[in-house]
Amino acid sequence: TTSRTRVLLHPDFTVGTVDRRLFGSFVEHLGRAVYTGIHEPGHPTSDSHGFRRDVADLTRELGVTTVRYPGGNFVSNYRWEDAVGPVEQRKPFLDLAWRTVEPNVVGTDEFLQWAEREGIEPMMAVNLGTRGVEEAVALLEYCNGEAGTRWADLRIANGREEPYGVKLWCLGNEMDGPWQIGHKDAHEYGKLARNAGAAMKLVDPSIELVACGSSSMGMPTFGEWERTVLEYTYDLVDHISMHAYYEEIDGDRASFLGSGTAMDRFIERVVASADAVGAQRRSDKRITISFDEWNVWYLTTRFPGEANLPIQKDAPRIIEDVYSGLDAVVVGDLLVTLLNHADRVPVACLAQLVNVIAPIMTEPGGEAWRQPTFHPFATTARLAQGEALDLRVSTSTIATKAHGEVPAVTAAATLADGAVALFLTNRSAEPVEVELAHLGAALEVAEGWAMTADHEAAVAGPEHAEKVATEHWGEFDVAGRIATGDRATTKVTLAPESW
Ligand code: AHR
Repeated sequence: TTSRTRVLLHPDFTVGTVDRRLFGSFVEHLGRAVYTGIHEPGHPTSDSHGFRRDVADLTRELGVTTVRYPGGNFVSNYRWEDAVGPVEQRKPFLDLAWRTVEPNVVGTDEFLQWAEREGIEPMMAVNLGTRGVEEAVALLEYCNGEAGTRWADLRIANGREEPYGVKLWCLGNEMDGPWQIGHKDAHEYGKLARNAGAAMKLVDPSIELVACGSSSMGMPTFGEWERTVLEYTYDLVDHISMHAYYEEIDGDRASFLGSGTAMDRFIERVVASADAVGAQRRSDKRITISFDEWNVWYLTTRFPGEANLPIQKDAPRIIEDVYSGLDAVVVGDLLVTLLNHADRVPVACLAQLVNVIAPIMTEPGGEAWRQPTFHPFATTARLAQGEALDLRVSTSTIATKAHGEVPAVTAAATLADGAVALFLTNRSAEPVEVELAHLGAALEVAEGWAMTADHEAAVAGPEHAEKVATEHWGEFDVAGRIATGDRATTKVTLAPESW
């Protein structure tokens, strides 16, 4: 059977401008994200700074605009000063977040200069777990200060004259999570974030600040946390963070395919909480969302046991999830959700970039390759430009255990310089015929791409990724399926479980 869906597109109906920072990612000192991920001196492709060219090239191809650093949970016990200056004088430290020995070979300067060479906007996080206002201010001065004060002069002494001009700053990471080193309740964190943020704005008033929201919609403090934190920080911060990871649990494929609906509801609830605080204060300011960790993560099955693990050394292989075509369809659909919230979500980070729950994988001394999730991300980052369109979608629903009824088909579209990009997900197990009414826009088809879900378990390694790319990813013959020219309505058939 083929069910029917109708999508109405009009170029004048818009949601908001797509901020390029929506296509961000994340590099944490965790597992092999940094060492043997972006950085591996002696690798055949390494540049003179010890960074892998093959990984940097894939990062460019992925279309990543912004990268968050250095954590994640790691940041909550990090001493950034120990990882600047001459490398031979730096001492390793025991990172308690991942119980891993961090060699401090890559630090703030190495990361920021890598980002600069690769044309990536850095997003830095300060440690509000074990540390506070003084260290946050010092790090900001180190990064953005002009010559003539202590920390800016230290940067200059370390060989970097020009301030880095880092704009985006996270006030800690997941401070609501009991797993966080230096975890706090909402009042403690709200006060600390306000004090640190206010002091940071005195160093550089041009920065944008992100307050920690809930680390997932499943947290018992969700909602109340956002409200309390924003009561302390509303006038100061620009964004509140959201984190969410999705996975297929106990073979519940329908709920997993419906993850985008869970993300959609999460965004709407956080926006409503933020606006309620704003309304109470009679403020015209609109807090936006930094969705600075999102992805598919097989957390329940593959989480590395934390305290029970022996101390890890030498860039351990932890959280190296292997993705399938199904995971890639879900990633594509999560991007559809983010695009539909372009007005309130200007920043988002696919967590993470390389090796750790990542679209890019590497072998030490060996090759780098694209996981299946790479393809929908790269294609969306490339094609979703300009204004997000406010579509009208009428479709059937699918019953799921985890999220109740969810739409069978989701859609998002963008428009830039007369070019429309339309993103569709068919979450159902049957083909869907989509009737596309493009009012006021005659279409001429340029290109089409599709990912379909597989039914096999994902297997580690480049051969599996290649197999998925060959069998499930490829050009979608839109020209043969969408009538072009002045016709106002065209039709396209979507394969089951496809993006
Ligand atoms: O991305 C992996 C981890 O997930 C991050 O360190 C943390 O912020 C989140 O819990």
